[in-house]
Amino acid sequence: MAVLTVKDLCKTFGAGTARSNRVLDHISFDVRGQTFVSIVGPSGCGKSTLLNIISGVEDHTSGHISVTGDSGSPARLGYVFQDPRLLPWRSVRKNMLYVQDSADEAAGTRVDRYLDMVGLSKHGDFFPGQLSGGMQQRVGIARAFAVEPDLLIMDEPFSHLDAITARGLRAQLQEIWSHSKKTVVFVTHDVVEAVELSDRIIVLQPGGKIFEDIEIDLPRPRRQSDPAVATLQAEVLARLENMKALTPTVASAV
Ligand SMILES: Nc1ncnc2c1ncn2[C@@H]1O[C@H](COP(=O)(O)OP(=O)(O)O)[C@@H](O)[C@H]1O
Ligand SMILES: [Mg+2]
Repeated sequence: MAVLTVKDLCKTFGAGTARSNRVLDHISFDVRGQTFVSIVGPSGCGKSTLLNIISGVEDHTSGHISVTGDSGSPARLGYVFQDPRLLPWRSVRKNMLYVQDSADEAAGTRVDRYLDMVGLSKHGDFFPGQLSGGMQQRVGIARAFAVEPDLLIMDEPFSHLDAITARGLRAQLQEIWSHSKKTVVFVTHDVVEAVELSDRIIVLQPGGKIFEDIEIDLPRPRRQSDPAVATLQAEVLARLENMKALTPTVASAV
């Protein structure tokens, strides 16, 4: 059964006013459990709006969306944003416990397990201000996985980091994902990153339509130095160049 179902979804900001702006235009796709799906597209094409609708922060204008939890229970969502959004006055561990449903022993065990997976088991008592940006983002990722979500939503989580740190975190994310196999919807404007991480890439074009839905069938772990990964990255990039040619209003954002 699909964890996420999106059918004929439309979103118009300021509908009925002079500023009416259709951002999502009849989007339909399903995401099965245990898959890593990336939504790729140039800045302003509606990626964050789509995530906000999935998470319930934003209403949609028409269409249908559902997120399914285990055995009919309400779906549990996890989030990772561009900024780690840690509470500065709480320790790393307490930041992670804060979003757990309960503070029982099992929650503590989950928190420690994921802290260990991001290589920060010795930093549980540190405060966010004592960590680098990359380490803080690792806490953000561990915090989201430790909730054991039915659906994990990630909105350009590496876009504020330097290239070397981002590369390290992508490798770590692959590692955690291969252990946990959570269902992930990952937003990025970076096609190369999407090919490295995903089972599937949904390309959004400006105006909020799906341009392509691409299966990525490469063995894991994937490294950018791997020729098969590099070849597919080039191929997908070429297809997006095609999108730019077909929609000339797209700036050189992809
Ligand atoms: N709350 C809002 N009110 C009005 N317009 C919005 C709002 N949020 C986003 N938009 C507009 O929707 C479009 C898509 O934005 P966004 O989803 O943030 O794009 P992306 O994440 O792909 O960069 C942009 O034109 C943006 O200005
Ligand atoms: Mg965005």
